[in-house]
Amino acid sequence: MVDLLGQYHKIQPEIDKAIHDVVVSSAYINGPDVKHFAREMEEYLDVKHVIPCANGTDALQIAMMALNFKPGDEVITASFTYVATAEVIALLQLKPVLVDVNPDTFTIDCDAIERAITPKTVAIVPVHLFGQCANMQRVMEIANTHNLYVIEDTAQAIGADYTLSTGITLKAGTIGTIGTTSFFPSKNLGCMGDGGAIFTQNDALAERIRMIANHGQSVQYHHDEIGVNSRLDTLQAAILRVKLRHLDEYCKARQDAAAYYDQAFGNHSKLKIPARMPNSSHVFHQYTLVLNGVSRTALREFLDSKGIPSMIYYPVPLHMQKAYTDPRYKKGDFPVTEALCGHVISLPMHTELTHEDLAYITSGVLEFVNRQ
Ligand SMILES: Cc1ncc(COP(=O)(O)O)c(C=O)c1O
Repeated sequence: MVDLLGQYHKIQPEIDKAIHDVVVSSAYINGPDVKHFAREMEEYLDVKHVIPCANGTDALQIAMMALNFKPGDEVITASFTYVATAEVIALLQLKPVLVDVNPDTFTIDCDAIERAITPKTVAIVPVHLFGQCANMQRVMEIANTHNLYVIEDTAQAIGADYTLSTGITLKAGTIGTIGTTSFFPSKNLGCMGDGGAIFTQNDALAERIRMIANHGQSVQYHHDEIGVNSRLDTLQAAILRVKLRHLDEYCKARQDAAAYYDQAFGNHSKLKIPARMPNSSHVFHQYTLVLNGVSRTALREFLDSKGIPSMIYYPVPLHMQKAYTDPRYKKGDFPVTEALCGHVISLPMHTELTHEDLAYITSGVLEFVNRQ
């Protein structure tokens, strides 16, 4: 699904030097690269504050801690996503309120958000799933009308652009109150271990986020509140500084691969290609097809026999997960999510796909599908 070694080989001298310099400095924790990376990311995103942390799940947790939510407060998020979003809501004793997604874009359904709002709602967490922004124009309008915070989960869409109705284009993660991301190795901007970051334009919030991520202290050994220990290692920051310089070309390589897939599958009655939103660019963290009248299990077995990897993101909707069983929800409540979980398939998507790879993958898929 990814080729991290191939990507490394292309930038090996830069990465090796960055790692070597950190090792020689021995500044493993909060070394200068962490600050430099944060500043460079602020510039890239055109946002006032980037606060690095240990991973994308911590980023979501710290964001919610910083907004002073009380136990029982309701946070609205999508039922079709990675578990981290709902996990931190539940861990903080907030109430995850799930809503269905749009069948074409896979991102949160804004009409469903409006129906889910109650007097206890405090925030909306749209997830920019697979690399394309949720309908942020509507999300922000709803949030402004109801006085809600917006935390954008940008783990899969770093580098994507979103154009608001005013004509202003912003980077994903810088539109809402807070943006969060993950630098998990396979992400569009991935490090060589775990990493994450939190973004905000708000100075006071940034200060609080920094304090919470650092054991609740702004002055060493003076703890004003209960925080967490969530740091980006200097080694990871140094690696990310190198990779940030290549992020736009990485996004372009993914978009080129997606265009190849679109061309091959676009007119097929049994394959639905990912829809594009007019206001958002798509940076293709995943390329996900929806199958129509094709056995997914049999297709995956066939692809596997030809050495073509595939994955199911995600096989089980959040409301059907054992840990998130809730008397409020039952099978059938989120029909779009449930249908997607049964019919989506993601194909290899990364920066190192050649035309030869793509020809092999697409002909493998079509060979099977045309037989059905
Ligand atoms: C949408 C989304 N949110 C959050 C996360 C959590 O990131 P991490 O694995 O760095 O904790 C991920 C990671 O896969 C993700 O895809």
